[in-house]
Order: sequence, then C-alpha cells, then structure tokens
Amino acid sequence: MQLCVGVFVATLALLLAATSTADAASPSLRHQARTVNATVLNACKSLTANSSSATETNYFGSSAFLDNSLRYMSSTVQTPACVYVPTTPEDLSKAIKIIGSQRLSFAVSSGKHASNKGFSSTTGIQISMKGFQHVNLSADKSYVDIGSGNIWDNVYAALQGTGVNIVGGRVTGVGVGGFISGGGGFSWKTNQYGLTIDTLLQADMVMPDGSLKSVTEQSDPDLFWALKGGGNRFGIVYNWRLKTNPQTDLVYGGLRTYTFDQIDSVVKAVSNFAVNNKDPKAQVLPTFNFVLGQPGVSLLAFYDGPSAPAGVFDGFDTSKGGPKPFTDAWKAQSFGDLVRATPSNATQYTRGQFMSVTFQNFSQSIIEQCVNQTKVIGAQSFLHGGSFVSYDVEPFLMTYSDNTNKGGAWPHSNSPLPLNIYFAWNGELNDDFWNEQIRETAKLLRAQAVAEGQNLDGLYLYPNYAVVDTPASELYGSENAARLQTLRQRYDPQDVMGLTTFFSFV
Ligand SMILES: Cc1cc2nc3c(=O)[nH]c(=O)nc-3n(C[C@H](O)[C@H](O)[C@H](O)COP(=O)(O)OP(=O)(O)OC[C@H]3O[C@@H](n4cnc5c(N)ncnc54)[C@H](O)[C@@H]3O)c2cc1C
Ligand SMILES: *[C@@H]1O[C@H](CO)[C@@H](O)[C@H](O)[C@H]1NC(C)=O
Ligand SMILES: *[C@@H]1O[C@H](CO)[C@@H](O)[C@H](O)[C@H]1NC(C)=O
Ligand SMILES: *[C@@H]1O[C@H](CO)[C@@H](O)[C@H](O)[C@H]1NC(C)=O
Ligand SMILES: *[C@@H]1O[C@H](CO)[C@@H](O)[C@H](O)[C@H]1NC(C)=O
Ligand SMILES: *[C@@H]1O[C@H](CO)[C@@H](O)[C@H](O)[C@H]1NC(C)=O
Ligand SMILES: *[C@@H]1O[C@H](CO)[C@@H](O)[C@H](O)[C@H]1NC(C)=O
Repeated sequence: MQLCVGVFVATLALLLAATSTADAASPSLRHQARTVNATVLNACKSLTANSSSATETNYFGSSAFLDNSLRYMSSTVQTPACVYVPTTPEDLSKAIKIIGSQRLSFAVSSGKHASNKGFSSTTGIQISMKGFQHVNLSADKSYVDIGSGNIWDNVYAALQGTGVNIVGGRVTGVGVGGFISGGGGFSWKTNQYGLTIDTLLQADMVMPDGSLKSVTEQSDPDLFWALKGGGNRFGIVYNWRLKTNPQTDLVYGGLRTYTFDQIDSVVKAVSNFAVNNKDPKAQVLPTFNFVLGQPGVSLLAFYDGPSAPAGVFDGFDTSKGGPKPFTDAWKAQSFGDLVRATPSNATQYTRGQFMSVTFQNFSQSIIEQCVNQTKVIGAQSFLHGGSFVSYDVEPFLMTYSDNTNKGGAWPHSNSPLPLNIYFAWNGELNDDFWNEQIRETAKLLRAQAVAEGQNLDGLYLYPNYAVVDTPASELYGSENAARLQTLRQRYDPQDVMGLTTFFSFV
C-alpha cells in the first residue's frame, strides 16, 4: 500500500515533468503557422527606433521571444508581432501613443499567470513589463516601491532580513502587475492586513493618452479606486508603492500532502479550522485535487512567526487524531522559502482554466462537495486529456476585512471567501469539455451554498480567478460596475485600453 502510493507520487512527478517539457518545446511548433501583420510590424520598428538603448524589442525567432511565449497556462498563448520590453516610463509612454494613434491591438503582461486568453497575450504588440523589476525599500522602511514586472518571489527575496514584508502572493511564480490590478490579492498576510490593494499607497503609471501620472488616494481618489480591481482598463502601472508590515526572519509552515484514504479526516480538520481559528497569524490553504486517477490533498499552512502556538494547528496533528500526512514539510523557514516551496509550478505550461466562486463561509458540506466534485470530474479525466482537477479552499477569517478594508473597485468589505477551481489538461480539442465542466461545477457549488442558507448577495467573484465572460455585475456589483464604466470614459475617452482584452464593464 505505502509502496503503491510511493510509486504513484513518483510517477506523478515524472508525468508532470514530461508534460511540462513537451509543452515547453511546443511553442516553436505553434509559431510556424503564422503571418505577420505589416502595419503592426512597422509600428514595432519605429517604436524600437525611438526607444532608449536599454529597451528591447523581441521578434520571432529570438530566444527572448520564445521565452516570452511560456505562460503559466499554455491555452493562453498567442503569437505577438513583437514583444516590446520598455525599461523607462518614457518608452512605455511612446508605446501607448503609437498603439493608440494607429489603433493597434496589444496586451500588457507582467507575470503571465492570467487564465484568460488575451488578457496578457495578443497577436499584436505585447508590452512586457519585465524591464521594471526594482524592489526599493524606503529609508524608514515604511513602504516599498515594486516594479510591475517582478514575480512576488523577487520581492520576498529582496525584503528578506529587513524586518519588514508586504502583503503579496502566496505561491511561486505569480506576477505583481496582474495580482494587484485584478483586485488582489489574497495573501498569507490577509487575515492581519487585508488584501494587497488595502496596502496600496501609490501607483506610478502611464495613462492611456501617454501622459505620466503618480496616483494616490489624495491626488486622484477616483482613479486610485479604479486601479484597485479595474485591471488593465485605466492605463499601465510600472511602479506600485505598498505599505510594509513587520516580519520575523523565520515563519512556520509549508506543504503537506495526503492520500485518498485521509481525505475525510482532512475535510474535518479544515472545516473545524475554518470555523474555530481566531488567530489572524494562522492560515491554511488546502487544495483538494485529482491527479493520475486518485483524489488527494495538498495542504499549505502558514504561521506568521517562527513557530505556531500550541493549539493553532491541533486539528492537523496526527497524534491528536488528525489526518496522517503522506509527505510533511511544515517547518520554520524564511517567508520566501515557504513561498518557493509551494507546488504550483507542477502543472505550468499545460492548458488550464480558473473559475471563481465566493462564499460567506466554508461549511463542512461545501468542502465535502468539493471533494465529491474532484472525484466525479476527475473520473472523466483520462477521456479528455485531463491532468489536474482541483479546488483551492481559502478559509480566511470570516471577518478579515473588518479592520483592513480600504475600498476599491473590487468590493470586499464583507470578507468574501474565495474558492478557486482550477482544471489543467492537454490538447486544444479538450478545451470545450473542460470549459463546460468548470462552469457546471461552479454553478452546483454556488447553488448548494444558497440552499444551505448562505446569503451570497453582495459577495462578488474574484476577478483574478474569474472566467473571461463573467458579467461586470458579478465581479463588481452593479454600482461599482457603473462607476467603473463612467471613470473609464473619463480617463480613456479614446478607448485606447479597449485595444487590449479584459472583462467588459457593462
Ligand atoms: C499558480 C497561481 C497562483 C496564484 N495565487 C494567487 C494568490 O495566492 N492570491 C491571489 O490573489 N491570486 C493568485 N493567483 C491569481 C493571480 O492574481 C492572477 O493570475 C494575476 O492575474 C496574475 O498576475 P500576473 O502579473 O502574473 O499576470 P498577467 O497575465 O501578466 O496579467 C494579468 C492581467 O493584469 C494586467 N496587467 C498586468 N500587469 C499590468 C500593469 N502593470 N498595469 C496594468 N495592467 C496590468 C494584464 O493586462 C492582464 O489583464 C494565482 C494564479 C496562479 C496561476
Ligand atoms: C520615430 O518613429 C517615427 C515613426 O513613428 C519615424 O518616422 C522616426 O524616424 C523615428 N525616430 C527615430 C529617431 O528613429
Ligand atoms: C493589421 O493590424 C491592423 C491593426 O491592428 C488591422 O487594422 C488590420 O486589419 C490588420 N491587417 C490584416 C491584414 O490583418
Ligand atoms: C529604485 O532604486 C534604483 C537604484 O537605487 C533607482 O535607480 C531607481 O530609480 C529606483 N526606482 C524607483 C521607482 O524608485
Ligand atoms: C516557477 O516558475 C516560474 C516561471 O513561471 C519561475 O520564475 C519560478 O522560479 C519557479 N519557481 C520555482 C520554485 O522553481
Ligand atoms: C456528486 O457530484 C455529482 C455530479 O456533480 C452529483 O450529481 C451528486 O449529487 C454529488 N453527490 C453528492 C453526495 O453530493
Ligand atoms: C456557515 O454557513 C451556514 C450556512 O451554510 C450557517 O448555518 C452557519 O451558521 C455558518 N457558520 C458560521 C460560523 O458562520
């Protein structure tokens, strides 16, 4: 039995490695059948000619161009005419002016983790923010300036040992630009300090007309509000100034995995934690999943200190009747090491889709339904190229926003609890199947919560987990959606940002 499970986990690692390699090699194949649009290509050339020396433009055939086509989900890959990589705000401004005046389609990309095709990929001009990767801590350590092109891993590495940290991403590889602009984000620090947008002090950006602007709550309250969830609709941000919070050198937590025979016990421990945990420094993030014909759980835990006080994670203690882990790497480590120990890269470079459902609380029956869904949908995986069926249950404190909410386009004053459903698969022919399944399963879970008495009115879907055609009213509420629409007309009367893709503000 134990041997069998060992072989299963080893096989999983191999399979995932093989899948990633295969998909990493395939962009060159995808790029073969393409025609280049001469208008767009000429714009790339004059943009390059007018740019400062450190700014690059990557064209088809270069390794930098191929590198750019690697995206977390291969289903979002599109082949751009060129990838423009500005290193100064002025160059970024030139790009938006040429794009706007010639009405060229384009995309802005930071960490390329968006699950919706077109949000940060394009067949036109791709503006990559990877030329903005500074992490500058202020002299008094009260705030950090962070370049949009960073992944959170870089930010944690730069802040390690300074005694301060920010509210950022929980797992390896996720980009700063999309995480914040999409209304985010959910962090290991959220119970204590809210979402990342609640810690935003200033955004330095290029407006749709090419002008440069530093935006704060005081300088421009409407635009500041809109940037906190309005995505790529209001311009391109190159620097985010975030408020810091205290950080110990070591934190406690990491990854545990559980095999199928332990799932019921994990469900019990998680739902007890969801209802009973009162310590804002403690957090768990279980992913109920189905891989290689077996359901299982990956459980990430976090405590904001070098050790967790007695009692906090008792429900997960095997000696106290908790579930028995298959692998256990909970330990004291640096914040950055904990983030880099997350297993989320295992499925990157395969096709995929995210889907958002938002709850008032995670009752045991809702979590049980997530498990049932992994089994029912997972059982069909082999027929449809499926490699990963997963439900990320995120039981933050049910009052996390009470003292932290600073407003913003994404409404979160009532502590919405996100569920992220994530399916990964191979083969474009299977897209329809998985896209239909993910909508069905979300509908079923939502209906069950309502039937159980949860009031989901006023709890909106999280833009960073939501599927492309989600109506603005379900993401922002009708009042915020209407305000976004008005502000968009004010700040972008020529609809330049409409030349890239995002949710529609209707
Ligand atoms: C493995 C994984 C783990 C995740 N973990 C978390 C998590 O812990 N918490 C959480 O809240 N979310 C999480 N997410 C969701 C994440 O917040 C979104 O995927 C987010 O869009 C990623 O940002 P990015 O910069 O990597 O993406 P990109 O694909 O580069 O960009 C996403 C969107 O933001 C826009 N954008 C990017 N940069 C800018 C900019 N500088 N100015 C204006 N618009 C810009 C793009 O145009 C695009 O529409 C996770 C996603 C994945 C795939
Ligand atoms: C800048 O771009 C324009 C076209 O938009 C081009 O005519 C001009 O030569 C470029 N300037 C330089 C210095 O190359
Ligand atoms: C080339 O791109 C421009 C701008 O996006 C568009 O208007 C034009 O129709 C495209 N041409 C072709 C042949 O696709
Ligand atoms: C960050 O620091 C570097 C090096 O000191 C400096 O060149 C850069 O201008 C700073 N960037 C911002 C946005 O503060
Ligand atoms: C995960 O992949 C990203 C690229 O998407 C990379 O930048 C990051 O370093 C990887 N993380 C680990 C822990 O290997
Ligand atoms: C499990 O999921 C299936 C399919 O979504 C559903 O028909 C069934 O009722 C669920 N079982 C339970 C016990 O909820
Ligand atoms: C969670 O939601 C259920 C309804 O599904 C409700 O009966 C219960 O009281 C809630 N629990 C808490 C702790 O709020």
